[in-house]
Amino acid sequence: MLFPEPEAFLDEVEAVARIGGAELMRYWRSLTPDQVSEKARNDLVSAADLASERAIVAAVAARFPEHRVLSEEAGWSRDDDSGPVWIVDPLDGTTNFVHGIPQFAVSIGVVAAGRVDFGVVLDPCKGDVFTAARGCGARWNGAPCRVSRQSGLAGSLLATGFPFKAHRLLDPYLAIFREAFLRCKSVRRPGAAALDLAYTACGLFDGFFEFQLSPWDVAAGAVLIEEAGGVITDMEGGGGWLASGNVVCGPAGVHGELLDIVHEHRDAWRAALAGG
Ligand code: IPD
Ligand code: CA
Ligand code: CA
Repeated sequence: MLFPEPEAFLDEVEAVARIGGAELMRYWRSLTPDQVSEKARNDLVSAADLASERAIVAAVAARFPEHRVLSEEAGWSRDDDSGPVWIVDPLDGTTNFVHGIPQFAVSIGVVAAGRVDFGVVLDPCKGDVFTAARGCGARWNGAPCRVSRQSGLAGSLLATGFPFKAHRLLDPYLAIFREAFLRCKSVRRPGAAALDLAYTACGLFDGFFEFQLSPWDVAAGAVLIEEAGGVITDMEGGGGWLASGNVVCGPAGVHGELLDIVHEHRDAWRAALAGG
């Protein structure tokens, strides 16, 4: 059997996320310098990322041997191209984790029939879990959750992420940030995109935007947003958020106003993206 019933499968995904989360907590605030390295400039990986990933990949293989895993540090678990895919960030928010800042998560999205249908974001430090199965709604610690009732940017609290790995995007990003910042109540940069999406799905944030995320940052959170009644698109306004990693989301009114701002600066960010 490739899939049990959606709710039962979601429980399995959550159980696997908890296995990863338990590994993270073994290293929490006890990482030594030799357990952290820079895989690219300003882009860290630690023993905690790797331990969580190993445990998650093993747990998926044991429970669903016909499923594949795409995870941030290890890549694909198998070469063939059949079966459901688990898109895994074993530690989202590595920089926070390494600095002892309690804002990080395990993020798992599962692609069933060509789209992400299941999402779990687990914050093992605070004990929060955000879950969604397509068509079954989104939940925060087991209770149904919705995006906020904000109808536009006035009075809204936004979250974002800086383009710290793609400095060529800084000027267009700052132009978008400036306009959004001037219209909303305030903006947060918490440092774990999966949690930014999950918080937006349960109405703690009213909207979120970031350029150049990876599939494992976005997969789970996107299902959460959609199942919580929100809208998620890429910066063009289309459905390419997983492939492009360029994300705008929130309740329809906030999303629409944010996207209008993004489009005012479209030539600039398109040119920056094209510049590689
Ligand atoms: C990062 C976080 C961060 C976002 C980065 C991601 P990582 O993930 O989600 O908020 O701004 O773009 O790479 O590297 O900690 O898994
Ligand atoms: Ca991540
Ligand atoms: Ca990560």
